[in-house]
Amino acid sequence: MVVLLNSLYKGGIGKTSNSVILTHILADKGYKILFIDCDPQGNGTRFLTTKSTTDVEFQKKNIFEAVKHDELKDNILKLKENIDYVPGNENINLFERMMDRKKIPSDKRYLYFNMLLQPLSQEEMYDFIILDVSPTKSLLNSSIMAGVTHHIVTSQSEVFSVEMIQSYLNDIKEFRAIQQIPSEVLGISLGMRDWTKLSKQVHDLVIHHYGDLVFNTVTKRKSKITEYAAAGFPSRNKRGLYNVKDSKALSLHWRLADEILMRLNLPLSKGGEI
Ligand SMILES: Nc1ncnc2c1ncn2[C@@H]1O[C@H](COP(=O)(O)OP(=O)(O)OP(=O)(O)O)[C@@H](O)[C@H]1O
Ligand SMILES: [Mg+2]
Repeated sequence: MVVLLNSLYKGGIGKTSNSVILTHILADKGYKILFIDCDPQGNGTRFLTTKSTTDVEFQKKNIFEAVKHDELKDNILKLKENIDYVPGNENINLFERMMDRKKIPSDKRYLYFNMLLQPLSQEEMYDFIILDVSPTKSLLNSSIMAGVTHHIVTSQSEVFSVEMIQSYLNDIKEFRAIQQIPSEVLGISLGMRDWTKLSKQVHDLVIHHYGDLVFNTVTKRKSKITEYAAAGFPSRNKRGLYNVKDSKALSLHWRLADEILMRLNLPLSKGGEI
């Protein structure tokens, strides 16, 4: 089972959008996915379900309840075939206080998510667990970073964002030291690229510095993708296809998903799906 985190300490660069879109595409390819929204903002839950985390449906089942009761499984909801999710909740902000209350010693707190995810890993319930986090450096996010098997470092082709890559990679290295099985960096994913000269220069600089670690696919800024975050992910028709505009808008994310699967040595589709 792949436990994947798509992140960087930088806000508004497309982390949540990429995680939700990859969740849908990998599910379309036949993989069974659990999406866990660990960001108090709850944008992933909104994008995935078009409902706010304050919706009555999420009041009893969410990430805060999961941490409160040390139990993820009871907080899983079904979105559609191949996609389950744990909704976000603003109170996950209280993670540090919850660790105090549980009397978990400070050196064990980084291992909390590892413990929380263990029953799902042992039962191989999913092919992928995809987590979404806020862009901050916090105990919650550190515990998640230490609990995953694979990282994708997501960045915009923009100077401030790219400057955070090294610091994020350094932290991943630090967490690898406390993991039983050290996690892998699958790659650096550059995205939301626009057509400015500066954007190309920044992109070339990242390739020069990180070489093969950078995914070949660079996702672009597309208005359709902004629309999906508000209106929901598009559906496929009876023949299992997206309409032409949607498949065009999603084509680079589709290619990125293929690259991710190739780097994981997994088939591009599972069980004969598209
Ligand atoms: N490829 C894209 N094309 C156009 N708009 C995009 C794209 N990816 C993301 N966006 C838009 O950019 C904004 C920020 O995206 P998103 O919420 O995914 O970023 P984030 O890094 O998760 O932010 P945060 O750090 O606040 O969690 C959103 O309005 C989203 O719809
Ligand atoms: Mg986000």
